[in-house]
Amino acid sequence: MTEIDRARLNQLHTRETQRFISDHPQSAAHYQRAQSSLLGGVPMNWMKKWAGPFPIFVKSAQGAHFTDVDGRDYIDLCLGDTGAMTGHSPPVVADAIARRVREGITLMLPTEDSLWVGEELRRRFGLPFWQFTLTATDANRFAIRLARQITKRPRILVFNWCYHGTVDESFITLKDGVAQARRGNIGPPVDPAVTTRVVEFNDLAALQQALAAGDVACVLAEPVMTNVGIVHPETGYHKALRELTRKSGTLLIIDETHTICAGPGGYTRAENLDPDFFIFGKAIAGGVPGAAYGFTQEVAKCISDGQNLEDCDTGGIGGTLAGNALSLAAMRATLTKVLTREAFPRMISAAERWTAGVEKAIAEFSLPWHVTRLGCRAEYQFSPTRPKNGTQAHDAMDFELERLMHLYAMNRGILLTPFHNMALMSPQADPEDVDQHTRVFREAVKELVA
Ligand SMILES: Cc1ncc(COP(=O)(O)O)c(C=O)c1O
Repeated sequence: MTEIDRARLNQLHTRETQRFISDHPQSAAHYQRAQSSLLGGVPMNWMKKWAGPFPIFVKSAQGAHFTDVDGRDYIDLCLGDTGAMTGHSPPVVADAIARRVREGITLMLPTEDSLWVGEELRRRFGLPFWQFTLTATDANRFAIRLARQITKRPRILVFNWCYHGTVDESFITLKDGVAQARRGNIGPPVDPAVTTRVVEFNDLAALQQALAAGDVACVLAEPVMTNVGIVHPETGYHKALRELTRKSGTLLIIDETHTICAGPGGYTRAENLDPDFFIFGKAIAGGVPGAAYGFTQEVAKCISDGQNLEDCDTGGIGGTLAGNALSLAAMRATLTKVLTREAFPRMISAAERWTAGVEKAIAEFSLPWHVTRLGCRAEYQFSPTRPKNGTQAHDAMDFELERLMHLYAMNRGILLTPFHNMALMSPQADPEDVDQHTRVFREAVKELVA
């Protein structure tokens, strides 16, 4: 197996940084100007973390490509970290949005689109009742609150190195088997160890033990971990997870915000899962802010029984703009016309092509890396074998190497999903774009091991 020479890596990083700076004068100027009005020169703190000395400023995006303010074109394999999994601004969604924008955007009242979307979500995912929020984070937060109220239990359980948005309870990791606040956790309301149990994914014994005390309201899980690199469940894991949660009276929240990439019904439909709550955000409205959470008949009854009309606007589940007319019009167009049953085979086949290309280059240069895929999402990880849990996936990360690979790709017109090495395919994915990534990836690793 080929070792990465760190001096070579640093040398390439310096060269690629210089190339990035000279290729992006307008982005550099915008970044400089932004220093006086935006904290750190960016509209959101994590935009500072892109590989490269400053972020690329975007001019426009369409389908699987975007153009920056320097006039450069990019193949977009990030797709807004799933927010634009539909491809950027699909014309049918853009038309529906334009129509709705002229007819009222937000009213605190339902529109007919909400009926259609509720019925489609019910048909697609099998859960009978739905509610809407603006973000997947909020959908998770509200499902957790409801689970606490229904079970009258204080805690939740998450998997080590999970990510479910900015949900306070989830910023917890295991260090030498002890649960503690995740590094970088900003201003936690309470120590997450008070609110949350955390166990490794695929460790049934640990799960059973953590649920045994009977104080866990819900397990919040991605059915396949996607945010620390892709970590698949072992055979039978989901069946056992469901059995253990049922046995201990714990509700199961399946967060499909990313795993919708597995197919039109998400991983839940593909693998016949049976959750109590189902979360779907980001791509649901083609990039317009919007998310949904669905739940079973039993959960719906408990919610209704516990609801008090007089207090229902201040119970901790809300959002003035949640369920707004614009989000629902965009959801309707996205679900009917874009993220359809017919679209997925093409998206998945593009991800298979990407996987085969990257695997071939890894083998050619004998690198101790591997590729994992879930539907139309694929990722290379810096370890020879698939991780079994979040810790193994996290241990395979290499911040400097990852930054070089991303910078190298950006300098050659390809945007990967930041903070890991993921590529996502939209319905407009072009095999030629996929092959271009393969060529650039091969060139990068060839230079790295030279
Ligand atoms: C699995 C999962 N759930 C929820 C979220 C939160 O989404 P948002 O940031 O849109 O609230 C994310 C964000 O990356 C996610 O990966």
